[in-house]
Amino acid sequence: MKTTLAFDVYGTLIDTNGVVAALQKLINNEAESFSQTWRDKQLEYSFRRSLMQNYENFAVCTSQALDYTCAFHKVSLTNEQKAELLGIYRVLPAFNDVKEGLTRLKTAGFRLYAFSNGKADALEMLLNTAGIRNLFLDIVSVDDIKTFKPSTGTYCHFLRKAQAMGYNAWLISSNPFDVIGAISAGMKSAWLRRSPEEIFDPWGIDPSITVSSLLDLADKINEHSL
Ligand code: LAC
Repeated sequence: MKTTLAFDVYGTLIDTNGVVAALQKLINNEAESFSQTWRDKQLEYSFRRSLMQNYENFAVCTSQALDYTCAFHKVSLTNEQKAELLGIYRVLPAFNDVKEGLTRLKTAGFRLYAFSNGKADALEMLLNTAGIRNLFLDIVSVDDIKTFKPSTGTYCHFLRKAQAMGYNAWLISSNPFDVIGAISAGMKSAWLRRSPEEIFDPWGIDPSITVSSLLDLADKINEHSL
């Protein structure tokens, strides 16, 4: 039976720091910390909306997080500047190892899906712009069930949509909360740790495997399955 791979999108395939260059033009040397606050708040808002059962889609979380980040960093941006930044968020670049890594996995016979907190239309655009949409069998969005990862139901939703079983389906993510969420829901999971600086949450729920690049993934998954 073929193994199914569910790829997280933001931060795993697509580099959310791709906005830094545009931010540098607007706010110079605070651009990196601004970008980090924006990403952290975007995720926090999605977690809180899940807990509160008060769903608004990921683009709303991103936009509201941008407003918060402006206030926090005492940066005043016009509506046009905010719209420009949100526009860049829709066409962020893929990390360097992504196209080659996914191509190798597809050629090796894995069933590839994108599985994300983003809405399907935003994901289509992002993956098309990055030139990798055609490598996936389908895109699965949590928007179908109006909650966010790491709610357990999102991983069950993925398995149903992909017609896969947890023991033969992997979530591939750079986000530790996502890896822990998938394992807790009965999937296998690979933590993509592109930088040794990245820290995994010490919850005692470890990734099935850890890789530093998508280029190593096929070998590591095959070794794990032996
Ligand atoms: C996603 C977020 C979690 O793409 O990065 O689902």
